[in-house]
Amino acid sequence: MTEAPNPIAIPTELEEKEESFFNTLRHLEYASLDTQKQTYLDYTGGNLYARSQVLKHQTLLLDNILGNPHSTNPTSRKSTELVEATRDKIISFFHAEDYIFVFTQNASAALKIVGESYPFNGTSTLMLLSDNHNSVNGIREYCNRKGGVTNYIPLQYEDLRINDDLLQKAIDETPKGNNLFGYPAQSNVSGIKHNLKWVAYAQSKGFDVLLDAAAFVPTSELDLRKVQPDFVSISFYKIFGYPTGIGGLFIKKSSFAKLTKPWFAGGTVTMVSVVAQNQFLAGGHERFEDGTLNYNNIPAVKIGLEYIESIGMDRITKRVRSLIQYLSSELKKLNHDNGRIIVKTFGTEKPENRGGNIVMNFFDVDGNTFPFEEIEMMANAKQISIRSGCFCNPGIDEINNCITNDEISKYFVSRDNGNYTDMTKYLGKMRGATRVSVGIATNKSDLDNFIALVASLKNKTASKSVALS
Ligand SMILES: Cc1ncc(COP(=O)(O)O)c(C=O)c1O
Repeated sequence: MTEAPNPIAIPTELEEKEESFFNTLRHLEYASLDTQKQTYLDYTGGNLYARSQVLKHQTLLLDNILGNPHSTNPTSRKSTELVEATRDKIISFFHAEDYIFVFTQNASAALKIVGESYPFNGTSTLMLLSDNHNSVNGIREYCNRKGGVTNYIPLQYEDLRINDDLLQKAIDETPKGNNLFGYPAQSNVSGIKHNLKWVAYAQSKGFDVLLDAAAFVPTSELDLRKVQPDFVSISFYKIFGYPTGIGGLFIKKSSFAKLTKPWFAGGTVTMVSVVAQNQFLAGGHERFEDGTLNYNNIPAVKIGLEYIESIGMDRITKRVRSLIQYLSSELKKLNHDNGRIIVKTFGTEKPENRGGNIVMNFFDVDGNTFPFEEIEMMANAKQISIRSGCFCNPGIDEINNCITNDEISKYFVSRDNGNYTDMTKYLGKMRGATRVSVGIATNKSDLDNFIALVASLKNKTASKSVALS
């Protein structure tokens, strides 16, 4: 007689070691989560900062006198030294020796630089995935106003991944010109990591490529020697929580001349004349860094990157993967007594193709959807921070909720302005979902808190509509 397989997965020695490492890290660096009894599951919204990051930055500020850069005085020189050391650190962290790194306010500001400076014209195509953040979608306004076209490539409904045939055909058939392909390395909604092979493929067909890495880099290594988009956008608070207000744009050195800055500002020029109304733009990163940099906070970016290095991105990737696997498998076990599912997660289940976020909808005992607002209110009451709505990524929400072009176009022409609540009423369809995202400080008990919340929906009936307070 063959023995039945043991249904309980026994943690390996390595898994136990990792568990204990991350538990100690949480205790040392993120203790306020436990002292305040908060369950934080919104890491894709913003990462949490470690105690040591803040203390190191505080010491740096208290031990130095920092003046406005762009001058030779000693306090200015000190700021410049710290800013440039941070820039060097960023370049080495991402292996971005072939790139110019521009400090911006956030990823959106980085994306705006590309939008306003890219040489779109009447024959341009801006190719986007229907899984882009609005800060990438917004670039279509620059392209369309210059007479170009924006072409959205839909994702596969079943797994929310790129449809290879469709994308390849669209790239192959686009007439040559100043064409830009923009896509996220990781979806900020589904957590799907899109294949980075499309960077080189699109480039080989004459496209410039903008990789929005804002949701990818917090839990995955981006090595810019191995994959070389023309432009890459990031926000640092998403990687290590502190400071907010600093992001960046990597511009491939060989693509720098392609961007034409549409104006100039303090710090971006080597010379300006008022009488002649002429100016020379600065070369390199200065050209795109408008005005005074956030010089008090930029050194904290170096501290943040060193902190991540001290843990190891590979380790974070694996940790996040195992947390998401645990969450997905536990959620799958939850059913109403009549056998109906309580929760449906969207996107591929292959763990290697996922990052730290996962999106889902909840169903009542009759199979009706719980409004995401109801779930959020329940979570709020239990001090659980999750995020709900459309996450600034309307394309993926339209796929998940089967909203057609025809329906949504009618809504737009029917009104001068509107919002999601009004639209759902008009369409008679559900919009939005619930996103849970995990990170460096997440532990099993955070996930168990959320799983218990979902389990409490068992055999319940959804209310018709709920207003968020
Ligand atoms: C994939 C992606 N791109 C861009 C952004 C915009 O980032 P920020 O709000 O920091 O400008 C976000 C923010 O959530 C994101 O997840």
